[in-house]
Amino acid sequence: MKKIIAFIGSSKGEKSSTAQFARLILENVLEIYEGETDFEVITSDKVNIKPCRSCLNCFRYCQCPQDKDDDMTAIKEKLLEADFIIWGSPVYAHQVSGQMKTLIDRLSYWLHIYKLAGKPGMVLATTSSTGHIEVLSYLAKIMLYLGMKAVKGYWVITDFQGLTPCEEDMQKKGKEAAAVIADYLSGKKKVTASPVSEKIFKALKSSILLSRKEKPGEYEIWEKEGYFECDSFSDLLEKKGV
Ligand SMILES: Cc1cc2nc3c(=O)[nH]c(=O)nc-3n(C[C@H](O)[C@H](O)[C@H](O)COP(=O)(O)O)c2cc1C
Repeated sequence: MKKIIAFIGSSKGEKSSTAQFARLILENVLEIYEGETDFEVITSDKVNIKPCRSCLNCFRYCQCPQDKDDDMTAIKEKLLEADFIIWGSPVYAHQVSGQMKTLIDRLSYWLHIYKLAGKPGMVLATTSSTGHIEVLSYLAKIMLYLGMKAVKGYWVITDFQGLTPCEEDMQKKGKEAAAVIADYLSGKKKVTASPVSEKIFKALKSSILLSRKEKPGEYEIWEKEGYFECDSFSDLLEKKGV
């Protein structure tokens, strides 16, 4: 059973056009992918994610004290179990929504410990006119630093009521996006290292080696997972069985 998880940074629930776009893509995946698939679309209003308090416990000890008080433990488990991850955000003032950013802030320390390395992802944005480039590139950048690969980004124009004036465009992109996802679920395509992901790995490895005292948690994970033995990000992916 392949699992797909979509997190949408909109509080409009069922009425969110970003969530509707994600659902359309995933329903198309169910139609074209022959294997068993299960998907979940989570909108930010359905979960409790507290804003980061900047205590730095996560970077130091790889634990967030707030995880026990909100839904982050469950969200992290879903992300870890997923075979494919979608992040979607409405454009808010030319960037991701605050709801989307709050999730990313709470996952910040995962940017250093490759929990999601090798997972394919897709990024989505909806907008009434502009800002989608900023949103898509930001979400793709975060996935890259998590060791994932945003294999594609899609955006659609909507209006403030969550209606899609360009229905035809959304249907077309929905089909295209589903075909991309199906290729990753079937193993026809997989995430590989890129020159940028190699550079990130090199910089991260030197920084973790130098900051054992300040961030013992991160160092411990690198040691336990055998990341220090890897000479490249490509080695790390191999170690993770990607
Ligand atoms: C607070 C807020 C800020 C917005 N900022 C922009 C913007 O900068 N540019 C734009 O084109 N649309 C902007 N929009 C419109 C939304 O991006 C658009 O309606 C989006 O599709 C809503 O997605 P949702 O239905 O998933 O919440 C904004 C909407 C809100 C509520």
